[in-house]
Amino acid sequence: MQGIVLTASAEFLEAAKQEVLEVFPASKLENLGDSVFWLPTETDPAYAQKQLLMRPPIFVHHMHAAARWPVHTEEEIIQSVRERLLADLPRVPPGAKVATQGRVIDKAIAWQPRQLKEMCDELLLAHGYQPQIKGPEWVISVTQAGPMVYYGLALARDNLSDWAGGMIHFRKEPGDVSRAKYKLLEAIVRFQLDFPTGGHALDLGAAPGGWTQELLARGLRVLAVDTGELDPRLRGKAGLVFRRANVKDLRFPAGTQFDVITSDISWDPFFTVSMINRLVEYLRPGGQVILTVKLMGRKPLPTVRRVMASLDPKLRVQHAQHLFHNRKEITLHLVRISE
Ligand SMILES: C[S@@+](CC[C@H](N)C(=O)[O-])C[C@H]1O[C@@H](n2cnc3c(N)ncnc32)[C@H](O)[C@@H]1O
Repeated sequence: MQGIVLTASAEFLEAAKQEVLEVFPASKLENLGDSVFWLPTETDPAYAQKQLLMRPPIFVHHMHAAARWPVHTEEEIIQSVRERLLADLPRVPPGAKVATQGRVIDKAIAWQPRQLKEMCDELLLAHGYQPQIKGPEWVISVTQAGPMVYYGLALARDNLSDWAGGMIHFRKEPGDVSRAKYKLLEAIVRFQLDFPTGGHALDLGAAPGGWTQELLARGLRVLAVDTGELDPRLRGKAGLVFRRANVKDLRFPAGTQFDVITSDISWDPFFTVSMINRLVEYLRPGGQVILTVKLMGRKPLPTVRRVMASLDPKLRVQHAQHLFHNRKEITLHLVRISE
């Protein structure tokens, strides 16, 4: 049997399933765990995966096309995956970087993804490939849930994230002022964002300053705005101006043009939209907005859709995604279209 293994956060699993059902209404989705589900497909799952990629589901962190079959022991998992992989490897171009991602969803079978990875790495090396953990081109995905193993081999970019289950991790740096920084970092990596060196960023709700710190590190000048104080470690940083103010009172001289506007304020989502709409005139054409939209206590999918429909028409939604580092919120990446 074949299909797609999809991962979301546990609290938005239903929203993720709803999105998938909009594309495949006749499907019988099956929960594999509290944040993982299975979409069975009648035809090649790689084709269904491409259909999902055309408009990536907002609440899905990761997916991998797979064949599934029953297993009882670790040895069976390793041997059966080995056979499939040997048959599949000719699809992968010579010398490619290939990661092995093994995931245990429950403990129905006692096994170690480490053993599986050792077997795969040995096979990859023997066939002239490069076993890789970070930044792979191809991924061998093996998920075990209940008495089944789900195996697939795909281009990393087709899985939405090249981290197992989308669980991307960043190394904590000694000077980090806030964990919120990882949200922005994940958006930068996942959406492949690029900022103009020397460009001007406006960071709304900036304190304690994780996003500001990351924007500065990427060569932008930053105007950081918050009713509270920035972390003292950011004081005097080159390129940083801090304005202690309520965002609602922000006014700029006519002609002010930012290259990037970011916002991570814990507000009602529609307040956030009206604030961004009011500031569009200060964003240059082609300029980018990265903002979190909070969903606390709201129906996730209808709220996100209404938010996107309420944006100023000059803003195009480039990406809308619940990221691994998002909690009860999603991240939007918008671009101001030319007049
Ligand atoms: C989640 S924190 C932002 C964290 C920040 N992105 C970071 O990386 O450190 C939200 C911030 O929004 C600020 N805030 C909330 N309402 C505001 C308003 N009306 N005007 C300015 N700042 C506001 C809060 O003071 C708080 O510092």
